[in-house]
Amino acid sequence: MAIPCTHLIAGEKSTMENGVLIGSPLSTTGILSQDELKKIAAYKAVEYVESNMVLGLGTGSTAKHAVERIGELLRQGKLTNIIGIPTSKQTQAQAISCGITLSDLNSHPIVDLAIDGADEVDPHMNLVKGRGGSLLREKMIESATKKFIVIVDESKMVDYIGGSGLALPVEVVPFCWKFSAERLRILFEDKGCVVKLRTMGENGEEPYVTDNGNYIVDLYLKEDLGDLSLASDAILRLPGIVEHGMFIGMATTVIVAGELGISLKNK
Ligand code: A5P
Repeated sequence: MAIPCTHLIAGEKSTMENGVLIGSPLSTTGILSQDELKKIAAYKAVEYVESNMVLGLGTGSTAKHAVERIGELLRQGKLTNIIGIPTSKQTQAQAISCGITLSDLNSHPIVDLAIDGADEVDPHMNLVKGRGGSLLREKMIESATKKFIVIVDESKMVDYIGGSGLALPVEVVPFCWKFSAERLRILFEDKGCVVKLRTMGENGEEPYVTDNGNYIVDLYLKEDLGDLSLASDAILRLPGIVEHGMFIGMATTVIVAGELGISLKNK
C-alpha cells in the first residue's frame, strides 16, 4: 500500500535509527524530485528542535526547508523562544522573513543544535561543505554546537571526501590569491589536484566574494586525500588560507532521504 509522503514529512512513520531505513518507501512511484527529498530530510531534522533552543541555521537549498519549517512551527505556536544563529547573510534574510529571532556567537557562544546541508558525506560522517560559499560561518557555528544534524538527499553520499569529483572549496584572502591557489595545487599535486578560482557575474569574470569579503578557490581531486586531518592541517598552515570545506568529525547525526526511505545515522 502506498504511504503518503505527507506522513513521512510529519515523521509519523519514523521508527528506527542508525543506518536503518525508517518509514520506507518515500515514494511508490519513484518520482520524488531531489528537492522533495531535501525537504523530507529537513523536516525530519526539525523534529529534534525543542522550544528554548539556540539553533544554528544552515545555508543552502536543503537547509532553507528547515528554516522555513521552524518559522512555520513558531507561527503555529508549536515552538517558542527559539534563537537562531544564521550561517550566512542569505539565511539571515530568510530567517528574518520567517519571523525567527536572531543572534550571533558573541551573544550565544554555545549552540544547542545546528541543522545544515552538505555537498558530500563520507561513510565516517565527514563532510564537504561550502559549494554555496558559506563554509567559514558554517564551520564557526557548527563547531560551537552540542548537536549537529546534517540533512542530505542520497546523491550527496560518497565513498571518500572529494569522491563526487566536484569542488572542495577553500576560502582564501583576496591578497595574492593566485599565489595561494598555486600553493594549494602543489600541496595536493600527487592527488591530481586542479585549482580554480570561483567566479560569478554574467560572463563569470568577477571573483565570487564570500560574506566575509574573501575569495574561494575550488580544489578538484582525482584521488582520495587519505588522512583528512593531515590534509586539513597542511591547508590551514598556508598563510593566506582562511578555512577549508572539510568538516571532519563534526556531524553528530546524518539524515539521508532517498527513494527507498529516510536513513538516520548517529555518531
Ligand atoms: C553552503 O555553503 C554549503 O555548505 C551548503 O550547506 C551545502 O553546499 C549544501 O547545499 P545544498 O543543500 O544546496 O545542496
